[in-house]
Amino acid sequence: MPVSLENIAAPEPDGSPVGIWPVSVARNASGAFEIAGVPAAQIAAEFGTPLFVIDEADMRGRAAAWKRAMDQAFAGLAGADVFYAGKAFLSVGVARWMGEEGLGIDTCSETELETALRAGIPGRLLGLHGNGKSVREIGMALDAGVAHLVVDSLAELALVEKIAAGRGQKASIMLRVTTGVHAGGHEFIATAHEDQKFGLSIAAGTARRAIEETLASASLELAGLHSHIGSQILNLDAFSRAAEATLALRAAAMRELGCEIPEIDFGGGYAVRYTVLDDLAPAPVEYATALAAAVRANVEATGLPAPHVSIEPGRSIAAPACLTLYTVGTIKPVQLEDGTTRRYVSVDGGMSDNIRPALYGSDYTCALASRRPSDDAVRTRVVGKHCESGDIVVRDVALSAQLAPGDLLAVPATGAYGRSMASNYNMLPRPGVVAVRDGQARWLVRSETPADLLALDADA
Ligand code: LLP
Repeated sequence: MPVSLENIAAPEPDGSPVGIWPVSVARNASGAFEIAGVPAAQIAAEFGTPLFVIDEADMRGRAAAWKRAMDQAFAGLAGADVFYAGKAFLSVGVARWMGEEGLGIDTCSETELETALRAGIPGRLLGLHGNGKSVREIGMALDAGVAHLVVDSLAELALVEKIAAGRGQKASIMLRVTTGVHAGGHEFIATAHEDQKFGLSIAAGTARRAIEETLASASLELAGLHSHIGSQILNLDAFSRAAEATLALRAAAMRELGCEIPEIDFGGGYAVRYTVLDDLAPAPVEYATALAAAVRANVEATGLPAPHVSIEPGRSIAAPACLTLYTVGTIKPVQLEDGTTRRYVSVDGGMSDNIRPALYGSDYTCALASRRPSDDAVRTRVVGKHCESGDIVVRDVALSAQLAPGDLLAVPATGAYGRSMASNYNMLPRPGVVAVRDGQARWLVRSETPADLLALDADA
């Protein structure tokens, strides 16, 4: 379907908190992008491209907004914690920022957990997830006193019990339950319906059985229940329904089994905007208020003590605070079947640093960052340099007709699931991540080099 140029106009930063650029992005007097006062061209010259650039103040601000929203919404209940979901993007520096803003870190592998530990995050503010945790990962979590060791299956419950018993330890665990609420931007990222790999089903009775087995074990302690329904969810009602189902399970178990279930974690999944055509996502305060309303209603109806609540936002903290800088390479006009022309602009990265368009059909947008765009916009597809035709960075965008090799393009909202899902396809080194703050740029994660890749080759 032809798309009009107005619909795909390259967006300009407007400094608004609901815009799609990191808040400090602006065009300077000469028309080029600056991020936190540092010209994009200067960052590219010093650190190279492709490159992830995080506006530190923006990312911290988003973390702090979640913390404030949850503290306020749960003030009259039993309080709340926010665990940043490190799978969105984690480095020791980012984990430190989150700790300084009062957040914990939710991890799902040995290296994520080690990264959070190196940042000094205490066990009481750590989580460990995963449907296939290794014995080593479970041991690390017990050593670190991870508060949310989230057990995903009956088999894993037995494994954690065995490991804890072998150490003469009592493992405090949460049970991940599936509520049947199906939500999320794409099938691959919806996680609470029945036919998928995560969690213990409430409907099938597995969740209740796991509660009973935990209570019966001398080596396990039931800290709470966990529900995560998917990712990129705009719909507040989905969160409310999942919360109600989890709270109902808690109430039934507490009443019928006479046990305590002190905590509930409602997981992550809060949406962001990738392009100006996307709906505005609810603010943290709206999500927090919906969750608190569900908890309040349950407490009033059952007379039970309120649970301490936690959540695990990842994308909504990391994605909007970051952009990717690419350098333009080859430019090629392609004649389409309808007689029109599409300009293909290739850049020096692609599906190895952002798999989301290829994996989920995600739409992104971009803007010319190294100079002021001319007014003569042309319908453009921005593509990567990989050997696949699905290697698309931005499917449709109107960009200056004067675009030339060597120009810099900036793609907004790439802070979540970009670097963390990056690959070395076609033996491309993965791009590094730079933090920019108050006119200064510094590495968070250095860019790989061909030498790094060859260093792993046993015959090189
Ligand atoms: N907690 C748990 C247990 C999760 O599984 C996830 C995400 C989160 C929290 C954080 O969700 P967020 O707030 O970031 O939506 N690769 C996909 C997203 C996969 C999300 C997996 N789990 C993407 O690029 O859209």
